[in-house]
Amino acid sequence: MRRDWSTLPEAVVTEVAERVGGIIDVRPARTGNHAEIASTVVGSSGMVFVKAAVTGLSVQTLRYELAATRAVDWFPPAVLWHFERADWLVVGAELLDGPHPDLSPRSPDLDLLRVTLKALQGTPAPRGNWFTPAGRLGFALPEMEGRTLVHSDINPSNLILTAGGLRVVDWAWMTEAAAWVELALLAQWLIGSGHSPAAAEQWLAQFPAWSSVTPDVLDAFAAMNAAKWEVKAGQSTHGWVHDLAAWTGSWAAYRGRAR
Ligand SMILES: Nc1ncnc2c1ncn2[C@@H]1O[C@H](COP(=O)(O)OP(=O)(O)O)[C@@H](O)[C@H]1O
Ligand SMILES: [Mg+2]
Repeated sequence: MRRDWSTLPEAVVTEVAERVGGIIDVRPARTGNHAEIASTVVGSSGMVFVKAAVTGLSVQTLRYELAATRAVDWFPPAVLWHFERADWLVVGAELLDGPHPDLSPRSPDLDLLRVTLKALQGTPAPRGNWFTPAGRLGFALPEMEGRTLVHSDINPSNLILTAGGLRVVDWAWMTEAAAWVELALLAQWLIGSGHSPAAAEQWLAQFPAWSSVTPDVLDAFAAMNAAKWEVKAGQSTHGWVHDLAAWTGSWAAYRGRAR
């Protein structure tokens, strides 16, 4: 859960200030909600995006994200520095400048997403001890196993349209998996952006990985994913959990009906 920048201990703020030549302004991110601190810091020597964590699981997650981000070229923001002080882990990254893309039907931003996804789909996972599909998602199919770099949380708030292309933030869930898993996890967000399940699938079918598995496998994936979010929605009052339950549910229902 987000905290306010003012809750950071002075020792941490001082260390950040030293790295940016004195803090002029701090602007909390308006999207996302997991990282405890996620803010643009304007310093006299430039701007940096700062993520920081203090509680056990958040620190573990940010540590994982730091390792993942450093292991992957171009797609994630470059890590500029990091330090640990007063129980906080603090990471300063390249500030990616631009809006989030619009993934609604016929949006021109979908062409930029295609370019980034094509490149991601052709990138092997870096060497390391990354999430397996089962570890990441809590359900498993043998076909989910693979060697591709899978971000696994591609959604508008984790995408930034920069002058150099569509870049991807929030690598806390980076997974080593089959390439189609990335596409299957994007279906829910395309649906959430206004695509019908059929239109979402039609867009995803342009990627060769989509047809690398049989329809039965996609049926099983959609059903297990929807069941997972239905359980989560029953235990949560967060709007985004209920949205995901609805979107994954509509994809699973469509696949169930289509066959
Ligand atoms: N390097 C970056 N440059 C610019 N904005 C960023 C950067 N990293 C994250 N953001 C913004 O901050 C938001 C929250 O960061 P994110 O890494 O997605 O954390 P979380 O979703 O876990 O809270 C993102 O939705 C994005 O808008
Ligand atoms: Mg995010």
